[in-house]
Amino acid sequence: MKRVLLLLLLLLLGLPAFAQGVEGLWARTCAQCHGDRAQGAKPYPGLQGALPLFATLEGRRYLVLVVLYGKKGEAGLMPGFAQLKDEELAALLNHLMALLKAKGEPFRPEDIKKERGQNLAPDRIPRP
Ligand code: HEC
Repeated sequence: MKRVLLLLLLLLLGLPAFAQGVEGLWARTCAQCHGDRAQGAKPYPGLQGALPLFATLEGRRYLVLVVLYGKKGEAGLMPGFAQLKDEELAALLNHLMALLKAKGEPFRPEDIKKERGQNLAPDRIPRP
């Protein structure tokens, strides 16, 4: 019985964060630079150019590396988001895929997990 109550409590505590869903997460973590719909927010770039990346293996790996370790290039510096959970990063990439109407398999938490622990610098993420 105690266990059931504890489970219920955990569920209730978790609900508000969950209810906000991926749109809230996108708004908090990505929109300040890339905009609500990935259109970009000056001086930061829009992400339309990422569309073809969702369709290839190297492209998909690159997208995972970018959200984990960040990206530094001509358009500026993006910090990495390794502090987010595998589930959250997969959901954010799937949200971006939907915003861009890109085709491809949805990202799974395992896709994120297997690229962790490489400690890459944002200027060391080569774009395929
Ligand atoms: C502080 C601003 C900032 C935030 C916050 C940010 N980005 Fe970025 N992002 C950038 C910049 C700047 C670049 C381009 C860097 C370069 O010149 O290569 C970039 C590049 C990217 C790229 C690669 C695009 C391509 O075509 O190669 C993806 C994908 C991306 N961001 C997704 C995200 C996602 C998803 C989030 C939220 C988890 C996010 N970004 C948060 C600034 C940001």
